[in-house]
Amino acid sequence: MQKKIWITGASSGIGKSLAIKFAENGWKVAISARRVEKLEEICKINKNIHSFPLDVLNIDQCNHTFNKILEKFDNIDKCIFCVGIRDHESEKNLELNKIEKIFKTNFFGNINTISSVYSYYKNKKEGHISVIASIAGYRGLPESGAYSASKSALITFVESLYFDLSKYNVQLSLINPGFINTDMVKNNKYKMPLIMSSDYAARIIYSNIIKNKNFEIHFPKRLSLLMKFLSILPFKLYSKLIKIGSNLINR
Ligand SMILES: NC(=O)c1ccc[n+]([C@@H]2O[C@H](COP(=O)([O-])OP(=O)(O)OC[C@H]3O[C@@H](n4cnc5c(N)ncnc54)[C@H](OP(=O)(O)O)[C@@H]3O)[C@@H](O)[C@H]2O)c1
Repeated sequence: MQKKIWITGASSGIGKSLAIKFAENGWKVAISARRVEKLEEICKINKNIHSFPLDVLNIDQCNHTFNKILEKFDNIDKCIFCVGIRDHESEKNLELNKIEKIFKTNFFGNINTISSVYSYYKNKKEGHISVIASIAGYRGLPESGAYSASKSALITFVESLYFDLSKYNVQLSLINPGFINTDMVKNNKYKMPLIMSSDYAARIIYSNIIKNKNFEIHFPKRLSLLMKFLSILPFKLYSKLIKIGSNLINR
């Protein structure tokens, strides 16, 4: 039987590449984001892709959208929640309204979609929810307070959920990428080590989700393992090394 997946944050970047990757592999794909015209364009790429526009900040819309997808698809095997925003300028200037928006979108936005599928999978006693956080969520980074904190919160939430949902045979995956060449980073003025295309990132995520061996999917390993190592250091040493690294990438 044809497998079915719901992907949010799918109007561009990693979510879009994932939608195409799953569709090319025969999956029926429901895609969501706010920009309706972008979603429509992606549907034209592959007939397995179907558009379900959504603002994840609206919990009623999340519930309604998931019900609409279920009506059309009958069943959803997996979900990948990819929504995220970032804004370096507002982080630099501590613009509270923008910081609040980053946190609301990256944390509560994804919790809203998780909540919309929660009872469905719990009752079904099977299913697979994946959430994209970031290696920037491992620990505080320069000019990234709201983004890193929102991703840290998301990582902790997904880890907790893993324990709660594994009792019901529901799988959880936490995806922590390094730099990916998407709209989100196109205005970054610093060097982005080991940056990769969203199509390449989608290939890595796809193969890991299909195998479903590890809870955390992190890449590129050279950067994600370095960040993991840095994150366990005492703050004094961590801060020195991060300052050296920031000077190198800002040159
Ligand atoms: N690029 C990187 O270097 C990088 C690294 C690590 C992690 N990530 C994470 O990967 C995920 C995907 O990011 P990306 O790099 O692919 O950036 P992107 O191209 O900007 O994608 C972000 C997606 O989120 C959607 N979105 C934003 N706010 C939304 C809302 N309120 N409701 C519904 N959809 C919303 C956007 O669609 P609409 O604007 O159409 O709503 C878009 O589809 C994010 O969680 C990001 O934090 C990215």
